[in-house]
Amino acid sequence: MDPSGKVAIVTGGNSGLGEGGVHRLLGAGATVVSLDRAGKPPMGADFIECDVGDEGSVNAAVQHVADRYGEIHMLLNNAGIGGLGAVATPEGPCDMAQFRNIIAVNLVGATQVAAHVSHRMISNKPTGPDGERGVIVNTCSIASFEGQEGMSAYTAAKAALAALTLVWARDLSRHAIRVNAVAPGFMGTPMVASLPPDFVAELVDGNEFPKRAGTADEYAAVAEFLIRTPLINGEVVRLDAGARPPARTKWASGA
Ligand SMILES: NC(=O)c1ccc[n+]([C@@H]2O[C@H](COP(=O)([O-])OP(=O)(O)OC[C@H]3O[C@@H](n4cnc5c(N)ncnc54)[C@H](O)[C@@H]3O)[C@@H](O)[C@H]2O)c1
Repeated sequence: MDPSGKVAIVTGGNSGLGEGGVHRLLGAGATVVSLDRAGKPPMGADFIECDVGDEGSVNAAVQHVADRYGEIHMLLNNAGIGGLGAVATPEGPCDMAQFRNIIAVNLVGATQVAAHVSHRMISNKPTGPDGERGVIVNTCSIASFEGQEGMSAYTAAKAALAALTLVWARDLSRHAIRVNAVAPGFMGTPMVASLPPDFVAELVDGNEFPKRAGTADEYAAVAEFLIRTPLINGEVVRLDAGARPPARTKWASGA
């Protein structure tokens, strides 16, 4: 799908990878609405405050976008949060409230955004040579495939989102809507800005090549490629410089 003249929603578009996606789609000529629960949208983008973990909030925000702009053609389903904790330690079981919160945002939240947006995409007019009605790009993670020690909830959510990418592609193919995903490795965004430098150095050293953090624009370039390429459907693209995370980092295990 050519983004020019189309309407995109980017969840978490006020920071990091989502912000990169907003800039890219604006540059490609789209109208872009950031749905975020905090921060300010990039210049040129519209903004509707929304907590993706709250279905009422998602429903209202998607309704607002439809009222303002009509059809919604693209979704970068990107908002997410981090969180660490072993399933159990000598001190006790993991914090299940934290576990539920990460699942509520990263999995249930991503699902309810995809559900409410794709429901509207179904009634879009077909566009382009293939008669596409919509394109969704989920933001997964390399933790979708290799969850490290301490990453129960994040891995559960991101692994499920990677698996759901194909299921949603199958659910929506009859409506000419495609669903793909990007699975980034270590990206230099505010989410990871407070991590200790030793930890970051070790993570980046795990890349094959190049040994550096990815950028929001590299994420956005892949997302744009997935939007523009009709034959790619149900696919999860790793964006990780060849990294395959080990069970644990030396830093996290105190070695
Ligand atoms: N940074 C990385 O290394 C990395 C790697 C792999 C995957 N990811 C994923 O990429 C996505 C974006 O992460 P980022 O690094 O840009 O983080 P970030 O913290 O810079 O940005 C996340 C944005 O999502 C918003 N958000 C969080 N919870 C929300 C909610 N409940 N409702 C609405 N908005 C909400 C935040 O306000 C923020 O604007 C996340 O899904 C994250 O899991 C990040």
